[in-house]
Amino acid sequence: MRQIKPNIYAVGAIDWDRRLFDELIPLPDGTSYNAYLIKGSEKTALLDSVDPTKTEVLMSNLVLLGVDRIDYIVSHHAEQDHSGAIQDMLTLYPDAKVVANPKCKAMLIDLLCIDEDKFVTVDDGQTLSLGDKTLQFINIPWVHWPETFGTYLREDKILFPCDFFGSHLAMSSLFVDDEPRVYEAAKRYYAEIMMPFRTIIQKNLEKIKDLQIDMIAPSHGPVYDRPKFIVDAYRDWVSDNVKNEVVLAYVSMHDSTRKMVEYFVEALIERNITVKQFNLTVTDIGQLAMALVDAATLVLGSPTVLTGAHPVAAYAAILANALRPKTKFASIIGSYGWGGRMVEQITGLIPNLKVELLEPVVAKGYPKDSDFTALDELADAILVKHSELGIVK
Ligand code: FEO
Repeated sequence: MRQIKPNIYAVGAIDWDRRLFDELIPLPDGTSYNAYLIKGSEKTALLDSVDPTKTEVLMSNLVLLGVDRIDYIVSHHAEQDHSGAIQDMLTLYPDAKVVANPKCKAMLIDLLCIDEDKFVTVDDGQTLSLGDKTLQFINIPWVHWPETFGTYLREDKILFPCDFFGSHLAMSSLFVDDEPRVYEAAKRYYAEIMMPFRTIIQKNLEKIKDLQIDMIAPSHGPVYDRPKFIVDAYRDWVSDNVKNEVVLAYVSMHDSTRKMVEYFVEALIERNITVKQFNLTVTDIGQLAMALVDAATLVLGSPTVLTGAHPVAAYAAILANALRPKTKFASIIGSYGWGGRMVEQITGLIPNLKVELLEPVVAKGYPKDSDFTALDELADAILVKHSELGIVK
């Protein structure tokens, strides 16, 4: 438990050991579930709770602070890593009301079976007075569920945006003390969680741009006492700008596809195109997602298994399709033994990507001279496309 500013405390929990979120997302640096207590001159509010596995930490922090009454539990987002201890909070503080917008209220009832009469419903822009402190609620949908809203604490100029601007980082420092490290973790978090909602986030950034913000206190990771750093990073990530980069994600069974990948990587390097290569059998999908934030082109490499794509390559295609990066171009390279529909299958898995498909290169068996020539032609085509976007230096 730490004080952020007078009468504003971080009362959440650090989860140093968690290594997976949603049974999907790697957490190499653990995470934190940030909850904040705001003591006004008349009322006390708790902003969010913690993951159910850390309820005791939250309770202990509140006891340490001597909190004998909570009037409002503001639940910005119904996902259980923030809402999962609300029922226990209501047991501990039976007079407390849960403050949520209508969508979040409905989801909290669905997910946590909270009684309807426990709620105070608030709308976008509405305020709630704690006496000498005023909570202003701001709907910021799809960061990362549709119901998400944030709170702006007017007198202290602190924005509490829940997942928005967060990072999965377990660290002892309350505030950002290592911007490059937090940038990396926040970018990973954006890539894994927020990227599909890029255009909506552009609107959310627009919505908060006129607020005077001294601090951003998200629900994961450290507090930003220099908020411009993370707001500028988000502006870059959600912009339409792409970089002169190719993400090449591949799997190979008997080295034919691997040989093509090696040749193709060299061909791209010779053309001064940055390549980020991922062997899908060992890669951290968070790193792959991060690379997709900026890359102009995605190339998937796959052998043909029976009649279709290697399932691991299909998984990468499904993941990219779900993450909806701003990638402009895509292609496929790989190999086959006696036929199949590997290319058609992969292209059918990425309908959400608004990409121009560049001519795939598929070798029969081990790649021959004509296949290497085709790879050079694909590298040339990528260079032309990137040059037309003005991103080649
Ligand atoms: Fe950190 Fe979407 O919950």
